Amino acid sequence: MSERPIWDKGGGAADERLMRFLAGDDVRLDQHLLRSDIRASTAHVNGLRRAGILDGKESAALAAALNELEGLVSAGQFVLDDRYEDGHSAIEAFLTQKLGDVGRKVHAGRSRNDQVLVATRLYLRDQLDRLVSTSLSIAEAFLVRAAADERTPMPGYTHLQRAVPSTVGLWCAAFTESFIDITILARSTREWINTCPLGTAAGFGVNLDLDRQGVSDELGFAQVQMNAMYAQNSRGRFEMAALHALHHALLEVRRFAWDLSLFATEEFGFVRLPDRFTTGSSIMPNKRNPDVVELLRASCAVVEGAMAELAAVLGLPSGYHRDLQATKEPMIRALSRGLKALDIVPDLVASMEFDRERMRAAITPAMFATDRAIELAAQGVPFREAYRNVAREIEAMRDLPIDESIANRTSLGGAGNLGLEQLRRRLAGLR
Ligand code: ARG
Repeated sequence: MSERPIWDKGGGAADERLMRFLAGDDVRLDQHLLRSDIRASTAHVNGLRRAGILDGKESAALAAALNELEGLVSAGQFVLDDRYEDGHSAIEAFLTQKLGDVGRKVHAGRSRNDQVLVATRLYLRDQLDRLVSTSLSIAEAFLVRAAADERTPMPGYTHLQRAVPSTVGLWCAAFTESFIDITILARSTREWINTCPLGTAAGFGVNLDLDRQGVSDELGFAQVQMNAMYAQNSRGRFEMAALHALHHALLEVRRFAWDLSLFATEEFGFVRLPDRFTTGSSIMPNKRNPDVVELLRASCAVVEGAMAELAAVLGLPSGYHRDLQATKEPMIRALSRGLKALDIVPDLVASMEFDRERMRAAITPAMFATDRAIELAAQGVPFREAYRNVAREIEAMRDLPIDESIANRTSLGGAGNLGLEQLRRRLAGLR
């Protein structure tokens, strides 16, 4: 660390080895939060002007320097490294180097405790916005495929055993509806966390009349997070909420990837993946492996691991503890990995090729047994009796009225009545 720590009081020299341990990878991770930190710093500066701590000239100079720093960061010309303890110190160092004493004024009324909270909050908000828009794209991609193969027969499974005739439409529209619900979850999570912790300082408030509401408004928050100690206590928990929404998306991606990896085997042969989604083997010349699909499936584990790590850090008493720094890495890891995985899904969904013949051929006579029992029940035979009668005749079932079987599933949401128009309207309502 070539910069002196911002908390240095001029005592003995800091121990390099311990300083490195304290910082860990923190300064590198702060690169993800730096632009949010700069944005919040500008709002803080404007708040200090309104509170009479900075005059107009000082706040304008600070805002201009922060704006310049933002430009450098966006252009990749300002990179955090171990010259600094963390991103917060780096911002103050930049301002001080530019503006001297005016730069040294920026930290009045704030602590790194509320600084990291607000930067994280803005970062999470952006990430949840991305989750919302990607989930919508995924829902749409599945809807397109559901509409295109609305009545294309596909065997339906429970317990991975052949059950009843189903359709590609039903399979795809299941994911459409799921990602509509995930969009709603991501959006409500964004609302839930959209509160401003800045101005709570170290967790007790400060002896200044800070314009917390004005700062909150400037940063686009729905309200201030009131209690200074609660603001600290929410660290990690709001991260958990965001990861929870992300987890739902990846649980569904994992399921879809599982389905695909089965359906793409030679044994099933229902789906073919385009070459660009597969890789070869280094030893087996015959192989084409669905590695992309498998890594999509594994992305869920990355998020789950991060959630477990976060939860483990959260066993703390009230207020700030440096332990909370350990929430940063799993949060960033899960969100980067998870959102990258989700970004691939619409393209994958659009590119699967169905083998309609293979799917039709895999629908066997016994799979019509349920239809038959229900038909008899509709004619007045008590269902349990019909069930037993059909069970006795299973071997004798011959004709395969696949399209009729599907068309007759008319109640809403069944294979013969997918309600795609309603799903389309729900989706449009979320856009
Ligand atoms: N890197 C620290 C974190 O992520 C910033 C806050 C430091 N605050 C403190 N009191 N040491 O928590």
